[in-house]
Amino acid sequence: MKVLKRRFIFLFIVFYMSETLAINIPQIVDVPQCANVPENERLDCYPQTNANQEECEARGCCWIEPNESVKGLPYCFYQPKAESYKFTNVTEIPDGINAFLERSSKSPYPSDVSVIQLIVTYQSDTTLRLKIIDPNRQRFETPFPEVNLPTPKTENPLYKFVLGDDKQGFKIVRRSDNTSVFDVSDLSNFIYSNQFLQITTKLPSSNIYGLGEQRKHLKLSTDWNRITLFNHDTAPQDHVNIYGTHPFYLLVEDTSNANGVFLKNSNGLELILQPSPALTYRAIGGILDFYVFLGPTPSDVLKQYQEVVGKPKMPPFWSLGFHLCRWGINDLETTKKVLQRNLDAGIPVEVQWNDLDYMDKHNDFTINKTAFAGLPEFVQDLHRQGRRYVILIDPGVSGSEELGSYPPYDRGVELDVFVKNTTDQIFIGKVWNLVSTVFPDFTHPNAYTYWKEMLKQFHDVVPFDGAWIDMNEVSNSEFPYGCPDSDLDHPMYQLHTEGGTLQEKTLCMTAKQHLGVHYDVHNLYGISEANITSRALSEILGERSFIISRSTFAGQGRYGGHWGGDVYSTWDELRYSIPHLLDFSLFGVPLMGSDICGFNDNTTEELCNRWMQLGAFYPFSRNHNSEKLRDQDPVAMGEQVVRSSLKALRVRYSLLPYLYTLFWYASQEGTTVARPLVVEFPNDPNTYDIDTTFLWGSALLIAPVLEDNPSSISVYLPKGRWYNFYNRTLLESVGESFNISTDRDTIPLFLRGGLIVPMQSPAATTEEVRKSDIKLLVALDENGKAKGNMYWDDGLSLDVSSDYTLLELNALQNTLELTSLNKGSTGLPKITSVEILGSSNGVNNKSILIDNLSIDSYPAKVTWPMT
Ligand code: NOJ
Repeated sequence: MKVLKRRFIFLFIVFYMSETLAINIPQIVDVPQCANVPENERLDCYPQTNANQEECEARGCCWIEPNESVKGLPYCFYQPKAESYKFTNVTEIPDGINAFLERSSKSPYPSDVSVIQLIVTYQSDTTLRLKIIDPNRQRFETPFPEVNLPTPKTENPLYKFVLGDDKQGFKIVRRSDNTSVFDVSDLSNFIYSNQFLQITTKLPSSNIYGLGEQRKHLKLSTDWNRITLFNHDTAPQDHVNIYGTHPFYLLVEDTSNANGVFLKNSNGLELILQPSPALTYRAIGGILDFYVFLGPTPSDVLKQYQEVVGKPKMPPFWSLGFHLCRWGINDLETTKKVLQRNLDAGIPVEVQWNDLDYMDKHNDFTINKTAFAGLPEFVQDLHRQGRRYVILIDPGVSGSEELGSYPPYDRGVELDVFVKNTTDQIFIGKVWNLVSTVFPDFTHPNAYTYWKEMLKQFHDVVPFDGAWIDMNEVSNSEFPYGCPDSDLDHPMYQLHTEGGTLQEKTLCMTAKQHLGVHYDVHNLYGISEANITSRALSEILGERSFIISRSTFAGQGRYGGHWGGDVYSTWDELRYSIPHLLDFSLFGVPLMGSDICGFNDNTTEELCNRWMQLGAFYPFSRNHNSEKLRDQDPVAMGEQVVRSSLKALRVRYSLLPYLYTLFWYASQEGTTVARPLVVEFPNDPNTYDIDTTFLWGSALLIAPVLEDNPSSISVYLPKGRWYNFYNRTLLESVGESFNISTDRDTIPLFLRGGLIVPMQSPAATTEEVRKSDIKLLVALDENGKAKGNMYWDDGLSLDVSSDYTLLELNALQNTLELTSLNKGSTGLPKITSVEILGSSNGVNNKSILIDNLSIDSYPAKVTWPMT
C-alpha cells in the first residue's frame, strides 16, 4: 500500500512537472504508425550528423533505414502528430490575431521556450506578417532590412488565417482558390529554443525560386535540398554557403498563381526543401518573423516583397556602361596601357577600376606612391574624357601601423568604432594587411562619421566615382588570440557551413558589435557597410552613388549592387551566372553581373568570346580576373573577342535608354530588369525551368551561347510574335523552341511583338550616347499594337521621383501616339526616327524620319502609310 502510494505521488509529481515546467518525457514511438509516413514526407528529427537509432528513439522519433540510400532522406523522423506546441489562446485583434502556444514536453534542444506568442498582422490586402516571439524575453531582432511598413489597411484581404484541427497548427489560405500558401498545420517538428528554431511549411507546388545566395539552377531542387545561409568568403560551389543571405522565395502554383514568403532573420539559417514538397526553416537564433505575399502573379509577389524590404536604388547612368578591372595590375602605367589598348580598339570602356593593388601595403585609404604615382591626375584625365574611376575598399583596416601615422586606425580608435572581443579590446584578425587587421563595426552610431571622413579624405586626393566593397562577409583568415569557448561558436546544432564551424574565415561569434554579438549580426556586416558607404558617398559626391558589394542581405538593393564573386573561368560558371543574376532580380538587387570571362584560373579565347557577349547583357557589366593569370581584357584575348565585344557592347549602348528606363521602374515599383521567363510568362509552364535565357524587361530576350562552338542553339520563345534583333525577321511562336544558328560574333537576341524600345546611338562613352537622337523601335504584335515607355533625367541627381521626363508610347495600326506623363528639367534628346516591325505594308523594317518631335507638342502622333 505504502509502495503504491509512493508511486502515485511520484507519478503525480512527474505529471505536474511535465505540465508546468515542460520536462522531457520521451514520447512512446508508435512503430506501426512510423511505417505509414511516406518517405517524401518525413520530417528530420535528428538533423545533427551521425544520427543513430538509440538517440533517435530517445527523442521519441521513428527510425527506419530505407532499402536504398537516398541522399538527404532522414532515417530518424517525427512520428505523426508528435507532441509539440498547441494553441492555448487565440484572440482576434484589430488587423490580426494574437495567440499563445505552449509545449507540454521539452525538445532535445537546450533552453526551450515553452510558451511562445504568435502575432498575425494583416499588413495589406496581399501581405500578411506572422511574428513568433518569446513573450517573456526580448530576443535578437534584426533591424535590416529597414522595413518601413504602412499602417495595416485591409479591406478585402486575399487570404484568411485558418486555425488547425485540435489547435495544433495553422495555415494561410488564399480565399479565391482555397490554396494553402503557408501551411504549418503539422507542428510536430516545431522547435523554439534559444539557439535552434525550426518550422516546416508544406508547399503548394515544387516551382520554387530564390533562397540564396548559392550556386544553383533558377528553379530550386526539392530533392532533399539543403541550403545553408551564413555569409562566407568562398568561390561559388554547389551546396556551399557563399557571400549573401536572402531568405525569400517565389513560388508558382499549379494554377499559375504565385505566392512568396520572406523570413526576416539575420542569424545563420538552414533551409531544407523536400519532395513532398515542403520547406523546413532552421534558424540558430533570433525570432521567426515571416512575411507572406499573396501575389497573385510572380511580378506582384516581387513588388510586394520589395514593398517590405525596400526597392532598389537608381544607379547613375554611367554605371550602365562597360567596366574594366583586374587584380594584379601592379602599377598605374599598366592600368593606363590596358585601358588605352582597349579604347584604341574601340571598346567603349566607361569605367576603369583598380583592385587593392593601388594601395600602400594593402591598407585602405592609402596610395602606393611609387607604383601609382600620378593616380589623382589619371582620374582627372578620365573625367575629362567623360569616363569614371572605381576603387576597391576592404572593410578591415590595418591594426599595426605606427601610432599617429595611419588615420583610419587612429581615428577609428578615437571614435571607438572597431569590433571588440569579449574583454572589450579591439578584435584583431588578419586579411590583406601585412601584420594585422581590425574591423569597423558598421552598426556603431559613430560608424557613419568615421567612414564618411575616411572616404572624403581619400576622395579629396583621388576623386573616385564609386566604391567596390569587398571581403565584407566579413572575411578574416587569422585569429592571433583564438576564440573563447562558447555556445555561440559551438551551438548544439551546427549549421552545415563550409569549414564546419561558424567562425571559419570570419570573426569569433562572441565578437561584440554595437547591435549585438557577431553570432546574431554576422549576416548583416555587408549590408551595414553598404548602407553607410552608399549614404556617405552620395553626400560626398552630391549625387547618386555607385556601390558594388560582395556580401549582401535582404533589402540590399536600396544601397547598391552586387557581383557574382570569385567564379571560375569555366563554361559551367558562364551558365550558372544567369541563375545567379536572376536570383538577385528576385531579391530586388537588379544591378548585378559576374566577372566577365571568369575570375579564377585562366580563361580561354572561346569562353571569353561568349562571356563578353553574355556580359554585355548583365545589368552590371564588368570584365575582371584574379592576379597572376593571363590578361583577359578584350584586346588581350585577340581579334575574335574584340569583334564580339564590339558587336555586343554596341547593342548594349544603343539600348541604354531602355535599360535605364527599366532601372527606374525597378526603383519605383519593384519590377525586374533582368527578368526570368517564368516571371513574365507564368501561364506558360514551359518557362518554369528556363535559366539559360532571360529577358530585359518585357521586350528583349537574350539567348547566349553557353557551349564551346555549337553550330546552333535551341531557344524557347513563348507564344506570340518575336523578331530577330539583327535582321528583324519575324518568328511566330506557338510556344516552342527554335533552332537558331550561331556565328562566333553574335549573341542571339529577340524582340517581343507588342513592345516599343527606345534606343540611341552607340558611342565611346555613355555621355556621348546620351547626346544622340532617339529612335523608337516599334515591334507590333499580331493585332498591330505595341506599347512602351521612356524615362529620362540627368543621369546623376538624387531626385528620381519628381524631376524627370516620362513618355508613354502607344502604337495601334499605323499610328504611334506619344504622351508625356511627366516633364523634367533635363531636356530630352530629339526623337528623330521610328522603326516599325511587323506592319503589313511597305514601311516594314524601315525607319520613318520625323522632324524634331518636341515634347512641348505632346500628345503627338506619328503615322505611317497603310496598304
Ligand atoms: C576578393 C574579390 O572577390 C576579388 O574580386 C578581388 O579581386 C580580390 N578579393 C582582391 O581584392
